[in-house]
Amino acid sequence: MVWIKVASAQELSNDEAKTVDVAGYGVALYRIDDEFFATDSMCTHATALLSEGYVEDGCVECPLHQGRFDIRTGKAMCAPVTVDLRTHAVKREGDHIYVLSP
Ligand code: FES
Repeated sequence: MVWIKVASAQELSNDEAKTVDVAGYGVALYRIDDEFFATDSMCTHATALLSEGYVEDGCVECPLHQGRFDIRTGKAMCAPVTVDLRTHAVKREGDHIYVLSP
């Protein structure tokens, strides 16, 4: 596994998400205040990109059926989602954000 540079910190505002490519794998990158987190980009319920969802209070709400996940842990928080999201390690060096490849 290697660290992949995926974004600059300035690209994301607070409570914003975007899909980034990590060695050919789609990962949702989130900013909560000055911390960055990463999860699988695809919802565990059906086919929807969580980077297009709504981020609030440390959770992301899926845009398709409004299931919610804890961004820090990937835990599925409410129906219809029952399967947790995989999370990915993130580090920041200066303005650069890195995600550990899966
Ligand atoms: Fe995400 Fe259904 S696809 S809650």
